[in-house]
Amino acid sequence: MKQKIDVVGISCDDAGDFSTAAQKALNEAEVIFASGDQEATIQCYFPKLQAQFKPYPKPISELEKSLPSYQSKKIVMMALGDPLFYGIGAILLRFLSAEQLRFHSAISSLQAALSRFSIPWNDLAVLSLHGRSLSSLSTVLGAKGRYGVLTDEKNSPQRIAGKLVEMGQENAVIRIAESLGRSDEKLSTYRAAELVDGKQHFSSLLILIIDIA
Ligand SMILES: C[S@@+](CC[C@H](N)C(=O)[O-])C[C@H]1O[C@@H](n2cnc3c(N)ncnc32)[C@H](O)[C@@H]1O
Repeated sequence: MKQKIDVVGISCDDAGDFSTAAQKALNEAEVIFASGDQEATIQCYFPKLQAQFKPYPKPISELEKSLPSYQSKKIVMMALGDPLFYGIGAILLRFLSAEQLRFHSAISSLQAALSRFSIPWNDLAVLSLHGRSLSSLSTVLGAKGRYGVLTDEKNSPQRIAGKLVEMGQENAVIRIAESLGRSDEKLSTYRAAELVDGKQHFSSLLILIIDIA
């Protein structure tokens, strides 16, 4: 592709907060790749866009095949938060060069969670369990420290707490940020032992900040 593709993140904190450069990219776009939710957000903040919206292909790896049909178009790809943080950025960089892409990153879900809890993240180790097996947890969470964990419905806070208790970390502190930036946003804090048998219901959009002393 000759022209650059703009990859625009939607802020987890404030969905309408776009930089001037991101706004320009959206206003000039001819094709915008977006999920259903992302399209609704963009239509809400930019009701006059001329661009044609396209859903992301499933599986997302098919994107490489569909892009050549938009060769001469100005393309924007929507992302959640920071596209280079467990997002579409790494997928695009598998088949496009850095020079072919322009990233407009917004605040990520992890940054939003840390801000809500007023936690500095200088020494934070990060891992994602989103769509991944829980077994990776014991290799990463072995030592004392602070961890930021992206997760999904399957790897629920209860299952993660269960794993921590199994590892002898029943006193680990688990801070949970649910549905950040949405009307059902919720923050809570537990010890691992308290969560294991709990009947709490959590949203499917979750960030956990885990402290192991
Ligand atoms: C594929 S990753 C995308 C991360 C994204 N690029 C970012 O910058 O936040 C998806 C994970 O982000 C987290 N997440 C996304 N939106 C969230 C929200 N509104 N509230 C809490 N966690 C969220 C969840 O852990 C989810 O499993």
